[in-house]
Amino acid sequence: MPTTATVATRTDASRMDDPNWWRQASVYQIYPRSFADSNGDGIGDLNGITAKVPYLETLGIDAVWLSPFYPSALADGGYDVDDYRNVDPRLGSLEDFDRMAHALHAAGIKLIVDIVPNHSSDRHEWFREALAAPKGSAARDRYIFRDGLGENGDLPPSDWESVFGGPAWERITEPDGTPGQWYMHIFAREQPDFNWDNPEVRDDFLKTLRFWSDRGVDGFRIDVAHALTKNLEDTLPSTADLEAQGEALYLEGRHPYWDRDDVHDIYAQWRKVFNEYNPPRTAVAEAWVHADRRARYASPEGLGQAFNFDLLQADFDAAQFRGTITKNLAEADASGASSTWVFSNHDVVRHATRYGLPAAADSAGGIMAGQAGKQWLLTGGRQQDVDVELGLRRARAASLLMFALPGSAYLYQGEELGLQEVGCEIADSERQDPSFFRNKGVEIGRDGCRVPLPWTTAGSSFGFGAGGSHLPQPEWFAGSSVEAQEAKEGSTLALYRTALALRGELQAAETLEWLDTGRDDVLAFRRPNGWTCITNFGTEPAGLPDGEVLVSSSPLEAGTLPGSATAWLR
Ligand code: BGC
Repeated sequence: MPTTATVATRTDASRMDDPNWWRQASVYQIYPRSFADSNGDGIGDLNGITAKVPYLETLGIDAVWLSPFYPSALADGGYDVDDYRNVDPRLGSLEDFDRMAHALHAAGIKLIVDIVPNHSSDRHEWFREALAAPKGSAARDRYIFRDGLGENGDLPPSDWESVFGGPAWERITEPDGTPGQWYMHIFAREQPDFNWDNPEVRDDFLKTLRFWSDRGVDGFRIDVAHALTKNLEDTLPSTADLEAQGEALYLEGRHPYWDRDDVHDIYAQWRKVFNEYNPPRTAVAEAWVHADRRARYASPEGLGQAFNFDLLQADFDAAQFRGTITKNLAEADASGASSTWVFSNHDVVRHATRYGLPAAADSAGGIMAGQAGKQWLLTGGRQQDVDVELGLRRARAASLLMFALPGSAYLYQGEELGLQEVGCEIADSERQDPSFFRNKGVEIGRDGCRVPLPWTTAGSSFGFGAGGSHLPQPEWFAGSSVEAQEAKEGSTLALYRTALALRGELQAAETLEWLDTGRDDVLAFRRPNGWTCITNFGTEPAGLPDGEVLVSSSPLEAGTLPGSATAWLR
């Protein structure tokens, strides 16, 4: 396996030009509307990010991944894109983007942007053209339009449900005012799916990838990478027909729209574009697919890397962690990619909260499943049942373990503050997530992890900006703020800074060796350079392996590792 030896200076050309920079990178996800607001309009923006580059530099990350910042009506938090080659005016301009990219690069931080290829927004120029054009026209062929069923075509072409709930088809009104065809949308109705059989669609995305690569973007995160190609025969199977086929439908790549084999032809073409650049542009697939099919997305002839959400979906449990880590390292090794690890992102309940939920929590009320749609359902539970202290303690232990693993670690803004999910503090009337509305409130959706960050203990929107905050911040944000944590020894922010700096220095070949701990609830592994990580998933204190203790997620007790804690030694 290739190794990534970390060089001393972050901005060294040898490091910035290293084609393998991504293999063991620490990547920090910014949800731009909720990071920092430079103009006081309550919405985070690109200049806000630029102003926080010193913070990112001190945090010790290698790259920033920006969730969508494109013009959008925000029907799905920006994943409904109006124009792929522009910046939402509320977030800034292309010049602001260039300034931000330059500031990040000057600090030795790479820049990854989100690409949303499965669907545009319904305000995209092409979709407006499609609505204005007649049935069967070239403009309609860029999307997936179908006649409805029933005598008057007033039934949807199939009974498929969208991921956010409700039907996956929406009926349009034809230009002459009559009820017309239906278009497909796997997500919200404002997110019509593209027709990837259409060469114009393919060419346009190549243009978009080059547009951002030419502006200095180092890599791309590909949204729902497993959904682009479709097989829509004249008669569509019903949901019951599909369910009856069980797992084989997915394993054999026969689902009409999820994870079809031919999606990889698209990524092979994209790879050629990525390789036109030096260093080659990188890509990571968001593909919620069967673990056995994930490697295809991570192939060096394709996107190169794929998110592995297995650890994110595991309980805080030694056996589950060990099994998941072992399997994923083997998988990454076989595909030539490096592994990816992630506990939190903009779609799921923050891990400091998940780990504080009772083991058998159900999703009946309160704090929700983190993502809509059956396949993405995570542990739910009621907010009043969350053990905040335990959740944070475990989250710190889990993150420290993740930072010691071979491969890329993806962090989500606010986890370095140990932020909890914001739950019922957001009133229904203030919610934004389409999954809340389309599920009629059964799942409260993903707003709770998207609340603007607290930077200061007091002041308007806790230092997020000079105005308000587009989602309400709870009072307890004061104690979690950057300012509060900078003043506090042993804070989660201090832990992340120490761990990320050490991770940069200690990084070794992409392998690990499990150590025998003599206990089922204690995991320990060693990297090839003697860097050792031990995690106590239990409650009884555990003895430490030999070596000098470098950092621990909770204070050691009489030379032993307490429960729900991780330590690094060398
Ligand atoms: C993104 C979500 C988004 C969906 C539709 C994803 O998986 O991460 O935030 O709602 O794609 O674009």
